[in-house]
Amino acid sequence: MVIDSDRRLPDVTGMTSGTKPPAACLIGWPAAHSRSPLIHHYWLRTLGIAGGYVIEAVPPDEFKDFIFRLSLRGFVGANVTMPHKERALALSKPDARARAVGAANTLWFENGELCSTNTDVEGFINNLDACAPGWDKAEDALVLGAGGASRAVVFGLIERGIKRVHLANRTMARARALADQFGARVQPVAWNAIDGLLPSMGLLVNTTSLGMHGQPALEVDVGLLPPQAVVADLVYAPLQTPLLAAARSRGLKTADGLGMLLHQAVRGFELWFGRRPEVTPELRELVEADLATKA
Ligand code: ATR
Repeated sequence: MVIDSDRRLPDVTGMTSGTKPPAACLIGWPAAHSRSPLIHHYWLRTLGIAGGYVIEAVPPDEFKDFIFRLSLRGFVGANVTMPHKERALALSKPDARARAVGAANTLWFENGELCSTNTDVEGFINNLDACAPGWDKAEDALVLGAGGASRAVVFGLIERGIKRVHLANRTMARARALADQFGARVQPVAWNAIDGLLPSMGLLVNTTSLGMHGQPALEVDVGLLPPQAVVADLVYAPLQTPLLAAARSRGLKTADGLGMLLHQAVRGFELWFGRRPEVTPELRELVEADLATKA
């Protein structure tokens, strides 16, 4: 992990000044279309909280200065997206989840100190709890992919107590490197070993980009999974990936990428605005409608 000499930036900016309603922002470059404003505005509106959430396009060479003056700019915290997530980790006081994932996506102030976490971990786990209660009876999970999203998933599964996490990736070296970071409960496996593992897996998770619009489908035979298995896909465009469609037609419980996206937003809102919001069917419909028009 890169540690900047000036990490743990002090809150030099007097965040408590003024009486303006609290506001948070999403910092990215470029400021790609994001569903986060839609989600947070929905919660602000339905909870009757006077607050704001805006997108801030910040180029990499201005990122440090931007978060150094985050509260002076009127923000109580922020979400961070590409390409700033690793830098956000290095410039803040990260919790165990952000450290394990190697990236921070949520920033807030605590006693004047800029803190960070990675809410993909709880987004993934809380969505599974909501969609497939009892999923954690699984002793073995198979995770496909070994990028940043996979790290959040693997950390969440280990934290939750899943006994064995098998990690398959097209590039085996990446699976090995990730497994090394997490210890003996995470086993790297070859991509061509997937079929042999499926009959004994209680949970299958796709963290690769396969199945996303414009990408090839993920060729995995869910018919080989046991009947109680749960299938999760992090891809949310399309909402129903070929993997999820196959799992549902077999009667397996599933958890989709949109659910994870919604659940990962909860903690930031709570940290910034002081109320824990709910992922409601109405919110899901709202974001689904937005995805349908601008996917
Ligand atoms: P993220 O941070 O979203 O996880 P990433 O770091 O780019 O994104 O990782 C993408 C994942 O999708 C990787 O596991 C990648 O496999 P490689 O490590 O071998 O690149 C996987 N992936 C992408 N395209 C794939 C394909 N056509 N077949 C199999 N895996 C693929």
